Amino acid sequence: MNDHHISRRQRAHEQAIRMQAQGGRVKVLSKTDEPGKIQRLLVLTAAAVLVAGSLLYVTESRAAGAGVHLESPRIDQSNDKSLQRGAAAFVNYCMACHTAGYQRYSRLAQDVGLSEEDVEKNLIFTTDKLGEPTKVGSLMTNNMTTDYGKQAFGVVPPNLSLTARSRGVDWIYTYLKSYYVDPEKATTGVNNLVYPDTAMPHVLWDLQGLQSPVYGEEAHGSRPITGLELTQEGSMSPDEYDDLVADITNFMAYVSDPIKETRHRVGMWVMLFLFGLLGVTYLLKKEYWKDVV
Ligand code: HEC
Repeated sequence: MNDHHISRRQRAHEQAIRMQAQGGRVKVLSKTDEPGKIQRLLVLTAAAVLVAGSLLYVTESRAAGAGVHLESPRIDQSNDKSLQRGAAAFVNYCMACHTAGYQRYSRLAQDVGLSEEDVEKNLIFTTDKLGEPTKVGSLMTNNMTTDYGKQAFGVVPPNLSLTARSRGVDWIYTYLKSYYVDPEKATTGVNNLVYPDTAMPHVLWDLQGLQSPVYGEEAHGSRPITGLELTQEGSMSPDEYDDLVADITNFMAYVSDPIKETRHRVGMWVMLFLFGLLGVTYLLKKEYWKDVV
């Protein structure tokens, strides 16, 4: 390494050592300064990452809603009935286009309290490559090819296994409630407040009915949409529709994290065990030290 690459401090340090050897009294940069500095640097970096992270999170959640207020569904992943209804709606209304490709039917049966026969009879509508009914041990996929999806919708309907994590449950819930009639959309005839210009048709329109936009005051040459109103009733009341969408959202949340309930249950036992162990260890410590102090 040539002189050019040696830092100033290193040179000062070497000079100090030389002078010390010659009997001079110079304060050498002590080695213990280094860890302190590194620690401070680490703390600063961690703080910067946290601040940047929270800023990113804020912009991301705003971008996701595109300024639309996202509603939070009241969902409960331990509610088997809700998951069963959600799964039934999902296989009936969504799986023609989408898959839950990381989830097996058999695992679903086990987790939501159904027998494999129930699932086979009521939830499997697809066939495998040989034309046989899909087996209960299979993944929840469909037969739509990527090419067909692209041709039909312009984008391939995505695998929804992890969407509850990437978009969040509030986004999915509000998305399924925010379709409105938009004659400018030649292909689907509808648009969506949460996901403007989405290629997905309003597949639940016969249940929800059709909503039309309510416009606010004109500003900057256009009139913003301030809300949606039901202009053509569907077969469900608005409350029933909200419940159905909440069940579908709950099911998607389950699929994105099937082990969550087990994790929470095991977590409780682990915490209880640790507290118990704390008691025992404390008593042991008292026993050990009773003759010493
Ligand atoms: C007719 C086909 C079709 C059906 C049926 C369908 N979808 Fe879609 N869906 C699509 C397409 C196409 C997209 C991609 C939209 C885009 O990116 O513009 C999509 C996108 C989505 C997204 C956004 C995913 C993301 O992260 O971008 C969600 C969530 C979704 N669908 C949920 C559902 C649910 C729930 C159902 C059942 C109630 C359903 N879809 C039924 C075609 C369909």
